[in-house]
Amino acid sequence: MKITVLHGQMHKGSTYNITKLFLEKLTDKNTEIKEFFMPKHAPSFCVGCFKCFTEGEEKCPHADTVQPVAKAIEEADLVIIESPCYALGMSGQLKTFLDHMSYRWMPHRPHPRMFSKVGLVISTAAGTGTRKVTKALQDNLFYWGVPIIYRYGKNVSASSFESVKPEKKSQIEKDVTKISAKIVNQLGRVKPGIKTKAMFQLMRLSQKSNNWNPTDKEYWLKQGWLGRVKPW
Ligand SMILES: Cc1cc2nc3c(=O)[nH]c(=O)nc-3n(C[C@H](O)[C@H](O)[C@H](O)COP(=O)(O)O)c2cc1C
Repeated sequence: MKITVLHGQMHKGSTYNITKLFLEKLTDKNTEIKEFFMPKHAPSFCVGCFKCFTEGEEKCPHADTVQPVAKAIEEADLVIIESPCYALGMSGQLKTFLDHMSYRWMPHRPHPRMFSKVGLVISTAAGTGTRKVTKALQDNLFYWGVPIIYRYGKNVSASSFESVKPEKKSQIEKDVTKISAKIVNQLGRVKPGIKTKAMFQLMRLSQKSNNWNPTDKEYWLKQGWLGRVKPW
């Protein structure tokens, strides 16, 4: 099994440590884990040139840093995205990377392998905001085509993992064990549900009448998705 992790920060605080707890539960000796830390692995902001949409992702001025991460996402069975809550949202450095992945959203060129993956999104906050973060991360995975997405948000009432109260830590461990068991159960047998199928169908209709972006349209034609072929 392959797991790709996008860490929304460089430091090893509560969010990182909870992610590590998940990895401990989810891995065995056959698991291959690839981890990326933002902004180290994708440091550049999107400049809004539209080249990824209209000319292809390799034409992005930051393709050299974005594409290795995009490839690791495509190859993974489980994609984990995590971020601490900053100002009621995800970290800016993670958003910067996710902006670069907009070309993989269903209205453009979703990768066929995304439709059989499991996603897990994780966030911590001191008091409030993890719902907004995990929802935004879930939205990204959903629009990439990932059909099964687990969300875990925890108000840790702390600024470091060391200062999280023991009773909270033991609750976190219980939660992680429970969610990990569900994930293990899903891996390798994922089928898109009605929401993913409906969104794909809507995007398919939009591509049929697409006369504004030949790069996207050619991609859908090449996949066979404007005919009878489906990515699942
Ligand atoms: C710049 C910044 C903004 C923050 N904004 C929020 C917030 O909106 N809501 C909240 O409850 N906690 C907020 N916090 C606290 C962190 O979300 C919280 O301590 C979190 O557990 C930190 O995760 P980490 O240990 O992985 O860095 C903020 C912290 C920082 C540094």
